[in-house]
Amino acid sequence: MNIDIMAGDITQQKTDAIIISFFEGKKAPDRDVVIIDKALRGVISRLIKNGQINGKLDEVNIIHSLGEISADHVVVVGMGKKKELTIDRIRGAFAVVCRQLRKQRVNNIAIATNCVRTNHISPTDSVQAMTEGALLGLYSFRKHITEKKDKPIEIKNMTIVIDNKADVHRLENSIGRGKILAEAAILARDMVNEPANYMTPTDMAEVATRLATEHNLELTILDEEEMRKLGMGALLGVAQGSCQEPKFIILDYKGRNGDEVDISLVGKGITFDSGGISIKPSNKMEEMKTDMAGGAAIIAAMVAIARLNLKINITAIVPAVENLPGGTALKPGDVLVAMTGKTIEIISTDAEGRLILADALGYANKLKAKRIIDVATLTGACQVALGSVCTGVFGNNQQLLDALISAGNKAGEYMWQMPMYDEYKEQNESDIADIKNAARGGAGAITAAQFLAEFAGSTPWVHLDIAGTSIVDKERKYYTKGATGVPVRTIVNLVMAISSRR
Ligand code: BES
Ligand code: MN
Ligand code: ZN
Repeated sequence: MNIDIMAGDITQQKTDAIIISFFEGKKAPDRDVVIIDKALRGVISRLIKNGQINGKLDEVNIIHSLGEISADHVVVVGMGKKKELTIDRIRGAFAVVCRQLRKQRVNNIAIATNCVRTNHISPTDSVQAMTEGALLGLYSFRKHITEKKDKPIEIKNMTIVIDNKADVHRLENSIGRGKILAEAAILARDMVNEPANYMTPTDMAEVATRLATEHNLELTILDEEEMRKLGMGALLGVAQGSCQEPKFIILDYKGRNGDEVDISLVGKGITFDSGGISIKPSNKMEEMKTDMAGGAAIIAAMVAIARLNLKINITAIVPAVENLPGGTALKPGDVLVAMTGKTIEIISTDAEGRLILADALGYANKLKAKRIIDVATLTGACQVALGSVCTGVFGNNQQLLDALISAGNKAGEYMWQMPMYDEYKEQNESDIADIKNAARGGAGAITAAQFLAEFAGSTPWVHLDIAGTSIVDKERKYYTKGATGVPVRTIVNLVMAISSRR
């Protein structure tokens, strides 16, 4: 879909549908869309009076204009109570209204200026939110469906029509930023929705290679031999049960002078998690093709960071490995030696994420990264605790945690900080090695984070557990069923905030 903005008279737009917004509790249409109501001989006012249009959040009313104006439909989208309006509600409402119009086979839509101007949200924020909401909400993954007959039509154009020409340029930048963020989230969704036989570690490395060329990122891919030389015993332990070769993907973005790595972004790239010898039950095991969502999010965020030309140095690290119970697989009771030299007793081969991340964090520290953010579908326990609404956040540096949480709120990707008391570390103590990879005694999301903390060391570090938020089982807001693209927009917001502080 093409999105643009212009100054002009909305009633003169040659378009299929005009979208206007309406707040709950108002008695009449907003002043700046009265012109549309007049053109339609007051039908909007009448529908408001008789209560058919009441502005409830995400309510969509489609009015046929019967030739009174050049657009065939006027669509009134409910925005809820004016005081309760948030950027995220704008994203959600635009996703909902766009999906509805796609169902009606509408090709071109125009957005009236009252959607842009709202009390406490700036026009730049609302235009960015509309862009993100529309693009994310209209997403679908149909790559492997050959049956074309029920393929939905796609909306071709969305034009935001404002009255002040002077604002056009500034708001074009908002559209641009919204597009970069939404397209990055969509890139992550595409990778995550891909079946595991199309997204092996080698495939992931190939995607990274293509994106590196397209966006001028430096790329390094370590193969098994190189990983062995570096002593990545924890990662290789997971990889040894599968015929798929592991790949250690490194993407470098240099946006400023100097070689220091300002942030290292680390993403779990388990392309399929069968559990290994500690095999998972078959119910819903197919969902474990999404166990590389952290890695996909990091790769996608790098693309957005490059497109935004941020003045910062970022190194992305994605260990890509398949976790299968082959004849050479890792076994419970085995002991592995991580890159840092720490020994790990394997209690469950299904706690594989923290093993590959141990070596990825070790590698990030070897690069002397100033900060580390890792993203992983790490624990079912986090999904139990927070569901699909909030990502679990853990870390060793409150300033970085606060920055991340506020970047998440801005993106509408909610983050909830979990406690990291030292007492939880006891649960990871092993009798025969330095640490064990699975704990008893509850708080599974926290003990997993405490395990990672040992490998993050003293570097300011934040860990995001997206086990619950990386996929949704039904449509919600601008999420479509399947991969959500969380937390791509949060990460990009955070990198933007840190780069502008420098
Ligand atoms: N990939 C899973 C976590 C997961 C579960 C993600 C559900 C998304 C939805 C992870 O590798 C795993 O299996 N974790 C185990 C850890 C346990 C063995 C200590 C878990 O959560 O059960
Ligand atoms: Mn697992
Ligand atoms: Zn896993």
